[in-house]
Formats: sequence, structure tokens, C-alpha cells
Amino acid sequence: MRVAVIGSGYVGLVAAACLAEIGHDVVCVDNDSARIARLQSGEVPIFEHHLPELIARHRGGRLRFQTELGPAVREAQAVFIAVGTPASEEGSADLSYVELVSRQLAEALEGYKVIVEKSTVPVYTSDWVRRTVARKAAADAQFDVVSNPEFLREGSAVTDFLYPDRIVVGADGPRAAEVMTELYAPLTSGEYGRRAGAVPRPAGAPDPSPLILTSAKSAEMIKHASNAFLAMKISFINMVARMCEAAGTDIEHVAAGIGTDRRIGRSFLRAGVGFGGSCFPKDLKAFRAVAEEMGLEFRLLDEVLRINEEQRQAFLRKVKGALWNLKGKRLAVLGLAFKAGTDDVRESPAIALVQSFLKEGAEVVAHDPAAIEAAKAEFAGLAPGARLSFVSSPYEAAEGADALVILTEWPEYARLDLDRIRKSLREPVLVDGRNLYRPEVVEGKGLTYVSVGRKSAKSPVATN
Ligand code: UDX
Ligand code: UDX
Repeated sequence: MRVAVIGSGYVGLVAAACLAEIGHDVVCVDNDSARIARLQSGEVPIFEHHLPELIARHRGGRLRFQTELGPAVREAQAVFIAVGTPASEEGSADLSYVELVSRQLAEALEGYKVIVEKSTVPVYTSDWVRRTVARKAAADAQFDVVSNPEFLREGSAVTDFLYPDRIVVGADGPRAAEVMTELYAPLTSGEYGRRAGAVPRPAGAPDPSPLILTSAKSAEMIKHASNAFLAMKISFINMVARMCEAAGTDIEHVAAGIGTDRRIGRSFLRAGVGFGGSCFPKDLKAFRAVAEEMGLEFRLLDEVLRINEEQRQAFLRKVKGALWNLKGKRLAVLGLAFKAGTDDVRESPAIALVQSFLKEGAEVVAHDPAAIEAAKAEFAGLAPGARLSFVSSPYEAAEGADALVILTEWPEYARLDLDRIRKSLREPVLVDGRNLYRPEVVEGKGLTYVSVGRKSAKSPVATN
């Protein structure tokens, strides 16, 4: 099938590459000409496992990149809208890019097209897109607007797209539902996964992926409600972690004990420094704004955000609890990305914490396997005198530092040579915001270990 994808961000680029991979003819359009030039030359602007190989395999063949939207839309049977939907000042989703693209594609409509809303948008957006397109399009233009939310996680975006838990299609008519069913047939039949050279199916992914056909409004609601629920799980476990600290128990045991109840599930119960990223904070605020517009107060969402913010403050207190004053201390920070497996630092709790450390007068020597370049831009406006530098290995960061502070759950940070770390540090202190180690292991190596939701028997200071 011929497909156009408008927007080449995380969602658009991954969708375009994966749709080409399953056999479609895809044109990916972006109005950022520098980005398109990079993509055309084979550069992959985001750090995402499997994405470079898919782009290399299909670029110039089933996958093309261009800035002109009109020709791409004219050729396509399905047009995906995957432009950004940032948070506006008051927290609601800023849909101006979606509106702009709707107008642009209306002018290029010829024959029948399915317009697919892929960006995360509030319920009712499909109606707005439909009205906007209808107003601008030629009188004989035929189209349907479908909501097909994307549930991909950064870091595992490609396998999330190719082997999803479910594909949600919100279509209000049979014709559009048919096009979407055909589009995803290689995934819903399991045929793609059996092809030679297919990206391997991750353990535990459903085989094949089910298709959920529903209304456009339900699909929009499913997306926001899913993200809000996942964020709620994280804030819930973080609050329980604080109780575990007070009670002198271990959140890892408690989370495992809760998670084995299949009604609750094990995932998204990792306590830490709180959630970040381009989706959860923004989508929670947008979902709350939707409720407000409906005359409903969804205060649970306020609380989820409040606990998340507090979790960072609690972690800052933890670091101070381990070191007393931060002024003049050198901190070796491991991790800047908002989570492992990505170079994305949008709303990263690690960035916010480094800023707090600097404000307290600490010197920060930071490492991240992928996100240093992206992080540098975040720190562009630092106060004069702030001492921040970046290094290329965790051991280099630890050299002469007063503590090692883990902020992102990169797997390599869970496999550090702790003897080497202890020898490199000026003070043998490890403050772990992601619970990557068992306390007895770290303490057995002669380090003071402070983590989240676990009170160390040996720790000389209160950690909550
Ligand atoms: C996506 C979704 O769009 C968002 O709804 C979801 O919540 C998070 O993931 P993402 O792909 O990360 O966002 O967005 P971004 O990286 O901002 O990429 C959007 C792209 O669209 C940019 O490359 C931008 O240049 C392009 N764009 C934007 C257009 O081509 N035309 C426009 O009018 C606006
Ligand atoms: C999320 C959703 O998972 C995905 O379905 C949606 O399409 C986009 O938003 P993403 O933002 O890529 O994906 O990351 P995710 O893996 O969900 O993690 C979000 C944040 O929560 C990260 O900061 C992560 O470190 C944190 N997190 C996650 C926890 O603190 N604990 C957990 O148990 C899980």
C-alpha cells in the first residue's frame, strides 16, 4: 500500500521505517528541511535500536524522505499525521501542528484517502481534523479520519511497533476500517514475524498481535488513559517506596509481591527518581485538561504528577543525606537520558536533578552512553560558575568524586566493577536512583549504598 507519514520525529520516523519494513511504499515528510536532508543522506537522527538497519534496508526503495507534502499525499492511500503535540501553557495539548497539517493535506486530496491520526491527541481531535479537512478540500474529495494511537516506548520503539501488545484502530466507517486492517495484516496475521530477516520478536510479545477495532473517540481515549494509568502505577510504587524506607523494608520485595498478582502485573512498578520523557508528563496534563473541559475534576492525575515531582525532591534530600553539604563536593553522575535505551532528555528527571546539584554548589562530572550531546543543549543557560563536565566512561566520572549517583537505568550501570569504582572515588558512596544493585552486594564491596525504598542496615544516615 502507498503510505505518507507526516512528521519524522520519534513516532513518525519509526512508523515510516516499520511500515516500509512490513512491505508498504512509504514517503516520510517533514517541514524541517535540514532533518530531511540528513535522512536522505542516510543519517539516523535518533538513537533507537534496529532503526538504522531498517532505514538502510529501505531508504531509496520503499522508504523515501521529502519536504513536499502535496505529492506524497496525492500518491498515498493512507496518510499518517505524526507531528508533535506539545503541551501548551495551561497543560492542554497544543494541536496547532495537527491543524496546520490537516489544512495542507486537504488541499492535496484526490480520490479516497484514509487520514490516520498517529500523534497523541485528546478525544474529539478526529472530529476537528475531519471538519478542517472537509472545509478546505475539494467538493468531491473523499476521506475518512481514523485514530490509530501509537504505544511505542523509546528505546524499544521498533519492536514495539512490529510486535505490539495490540493495534488500536478507531474508525467510524467500514471502508477506512478495511484499509487499516489490510495495512496491518502482516502483523495481525503473524506473517511478518515468520519472514527471513525479520526483526526478531521479543520474548513475551503476543503472536500474532491482536487488532482492536473501535470508534475514533474510543481510540483517542484509550491512548491517553493508557499513559495516565502507567504513570499512575509509577507514582503509586514511588509512594510505597517512601513508606518502605520509613518502615525499614525493601521496595523490591514489595513490588515483586504486588506484581505477581496478575490483576496488577509486574511492569511499571520500578521505584526510582520518577518518570520523565516526552509523553507521560505532557499526556497527563493533557488528559486532565480534557476532563476539565468536560466539567470533571480528575484530581487523581494531579496527585500522580505531584508525587512524581516530590520523588525528585526526595532523591535530592537523599543525596544530601549521604554527603551532608553539596557545596564544593564533586558528584559523579551516571545517566542523563530520561530512561535507558534512548538519547532523549526531554523532561528527564536526571537533567532536573543535575540542575539541582549544581544549584546547591556541587561540581558534576556526568556520563551517559547516548545522551551527552542532547543534554548539552539543556544546560546551555547555566548560571556563571556552575561546574559541569562530561566524560566518556563511568570510571572516569568516579575519579576523585565524593559520590557516584546513578540517575538512569542503563544496563551497563548495573554491571560496574565496584572494586574499581571504590578505588576511584574519594569517598566510597553510591547513591542509586534506579535500584540497580542489591544492597548486600554493594556494601560487601566496602561502599556506602543509598537506594530508593530500601533502608540500608549499615547506612549511617536517614535516607528518607
Ligand atoms: C510524537 C507524537 O507526535 C506526540 O503526539 C507523542 O505524544 C509523542 O511522540 P515526536 O515524534 O516525538 O512526537 O515529535 P517530534 O520529535 O516533535 O517530531 C515531530 C516532527 O514533525 C518534527 O520533525 C517536525 O519538524 C515535524 N513537523 C511538525 C512537520 O513536519 N510539520 C509541521 O507542521 C510540524
Ligand atoms: C511511554 C509509554 O510507555 C508508551 O506506551 C507511549 O507510547 C509513550 O510513552 P516512553 O516515554 O518511551 O513510553 O517511556 P517508558 O518506558 O514508558 O518510561 C517513561 C518514564 O517512566 C521513564 O522516565 C522511565 O524511567 C520511568 N519508569 C518506567 C519508571 O520510573 N518506573 C517504571 O517502572 C517504568
